[in-house]
Amino acid sequence: MEYLKIIGETNLSGEVKISGAKNAALPLIAATILAKNEISICNMPNVVDINTFLKLIDKLGGTFKKENDCIKIDTSKLHNTTATYDIVKTMRASILVLGPILARFGHCEVSLPGGCAIGQRPVDLHLKALEAMGAVIKINHGYIEASAPNGLKGAKIVFDKVTVGGTENTVMAAALADGETTIINAAKEPEIVQLCEIIRNAGVSIEGIGTSKLIIQGTNKELLNIKDFDVIPDRIEAGTYMCAAAITNSKLKINKVIPLHLEAIISKLEEMNFEILQDENSVTVMPTDEIKPVNIVTTEYPGFPTDMQAQFMALATQAKGTSTIDERLFENRFMHVSELLRLGADIHLNGNIATINGSKNTLNGTDVMATDLRASSALVLSALVAQGETSIHRIYHLDRGYEDLEGKFSNIGANVARFKE
Ligand code: UD1
Repeated sequence: MEYLKIIGETNLSGEVKISGAKNAALPLIAATILAKNEISICNMPNVVDINTFLKLIDKLGGTFKKENDCIKIDTSKLHNTTATYDIVKTMRASILVLGPILARFGHCEVSLPGGCAIGQRPVDLHLKALEAMGAVIKINHGYIEASAPNGLKGAKIVFDKVTVGGTENTVMAAALADGETTIINAAKEPEIVQLCEIIRNAGVSIEGIGTSKLIIQGTNKELLNIKDFDVIPDRIEAGTYMCAAAITNSKLKINKVIPLHLEAIISKLEEMNFEILQDENSVTVMPTDEIKPVNIVTTEYPGFPTDMQAQFMALATQAKGTSTIDERLFENRFMHVSELLRLGADIHLNGNIATINGSKNTLNGTDVMATDLRASSALVLSALVAQGETSIHRIYHLDRGYEDLEGKFSNIGANVARFKE
């Protein structure tokens, strides 16, 4: 296994370029299952989760070719309809093939994802939506077995909870269903907007894109002609580098972003007394005299993203005063707290609320363990300001979602290197 060694108390400077969004790219790769043509997707992030999803496409009988940051995917000869445990266990997002495969072939088998480090994360809402569209679902030997012998029919679906993956699966299924599907309480994340736009550009009528009510007219199993496109920038990677600038109190320009997608992050950094300069495709974080504490509640987009919670917790350890973070989406998403405590942070947990007593220069380098993707990035940020050396173990979590992390951080002045255990 590999680990990262970071020497702290560094200043960052310069510019960093953000990659394509992993969480947009995953459903977009799944959407290629709806197509009859080869599709070239560019600005693909080079991260492990994308490679895992491509492996799944390959196992299902599709093909792909990589060329720089573009990947050409052809699912016209896709024939296997089973997503097996060996892939699903490493990446929950594999569940995203369920909607498109079921809609195209009338049946699909996906290993149940099970729990993960940040909580139970059920898929009941995905299944309920597909059932409303006429699917018959059985759980057999740890697999979701879905069938729709007469094809999926358009339906009215009201999600009890806002679910990103559930909305994506339903939109993809609805695209090939027979008739009109209405999704009420749909998720509105930029990643969902892009998925809907790509499907709409392929000729499927979708009303309400970017709102909580989507109306989709299905093609009744006629496969789509999806046009080539670029993946949107990763707002979470961008937010992580913004927090890296803030925690080290450095001026850093973050390029190739969509500032509109970063509004909640920008506004919390401003509350913490940072000035953020914006232009069309970049944001620049300016240093501050004093980091102010902040209160954060994680919610669905356009609210503050749960995927940025851990990074802001690291930043709050450097604020002057007490901050709170109320995690509303995932019940067990505070795994980073015990590691931040090992670095010397003063954090108290009460249910889903963390209270962080911050002050400057409190962290000391030591060995810490990455527990999930975003928790790991909080450890990287903390290590940048900690006194001395921090070794972050189990960094395969980071590799799932951050492209060339050491390269990008080294370029802006961080002292970071990767070693084998
Ligand atoms: C996606 C993101 C993840 C992000 C999360 C919330 C991807 C690949 N992952 O995950 O990075 O943290 O959105 O923004 O895009 N739920 C149910 N039943 C379901 C589905 C979800 O109860 O069938 C619950 C979940 O446990 C959670 C909440 O709904 O409490 C939101 O989950 P959801 O939006 O579905 O997250 P993911 O799509 O898994």
